[in-house]
Amino acid sequence: MSRTDGRGRPAPDEHPIEPAEFWEQRCRTHRDERGQVWSGRVNPAVEREVAGLAPGTALELGSGEGGDALWLAEQGWTVTALDISATALAVGAAQAAARGVADRIDWVRADLVSWRPDTEYDLVTSAFFHSPFDFPREEILRRATRAVAPGGTLLIVGHGAPPPGLASGHGWEHAASGPPLPDPVEVLTALELPNDWVVERSAVVAREATLPDGSIAEVTDTVVRVWRPA
Ligand SMILES: C[S@@+](CC[C@H](N)C(=O)[O-])C[C@H]1O[C@@H](n2cnc3c(N)ncnc32)[C@H](O)[C@@H]1O
Repeated sequence: MSRTDGRGRPAPDEHPIEPAEFWEQRCRTHRDERGQVWSGRVNPAVEREVAGLAPGTALELGSGEGGDALWLAEQGWTVTALDISATALAVGAAQAAARGVADRIDWVRADLVSWRPDTEYDLVTSAFFHSPFDFPREEILRRATRAVAPGGTLLIVGHGAPPPGLASGHGWEHAASGPPLPDPVEVLTALELPNDWVVERSAVVAREATLPDGSIAEVTDTVVRVWRPA
């Protein structure tokens, strides 16, 4: 029996679903005819922000099926893709094999709530790391700063707001029903960066998105990119 409320959100019953089970269920039951939940394409903000960087090592937090990780690998990055859902990671790994970049991506199943960085990367990214659960997103992103190597970049892309008229459901429920969505200044404040880090982008960016029903809507992304001095 499913313990979600029909919109994919955890049901408020006396046996609340665990986050790992929720994401596992979501990745299994929301697949399209290709067997995927997400498009498999790089997020536009990630493509735009990373395009000018020299490839090195990259860590992606909450990679899902790896749309960004696959693109990064294709640009020459050596990627560690980390997610709580084994199903999402398996989809990504299959795609990596099909796209000839399997040797460039390490798929790691981990719960970011208990994750602690143990090495540093030239690029740390997180895209749409939202959850309907009350989880320590700020703390996780603050911890992510410790995974950035000297001379490296941290990129955080998030939902600015769900499309008008879509307060929940249609895939935006993670953002709409979870904790309030932070603006870029709130994201930056939560990172508690050392004074010498450079804020290279702090913006709300509009883009067009195709909704599951095929309609096009304007949505906004919050984009924060910071650089750790070498
Ligand atoms: C909205 S999806 C975004 C996926 C991907 N970054 C993208 O842009 O397509 C959020 C992802 O965060 C993952 N996630 C949620 N909570 C997590 C946690 N505690 N630890 C690790 N991953 C988590 C989910 O499994 C899901 O793949």
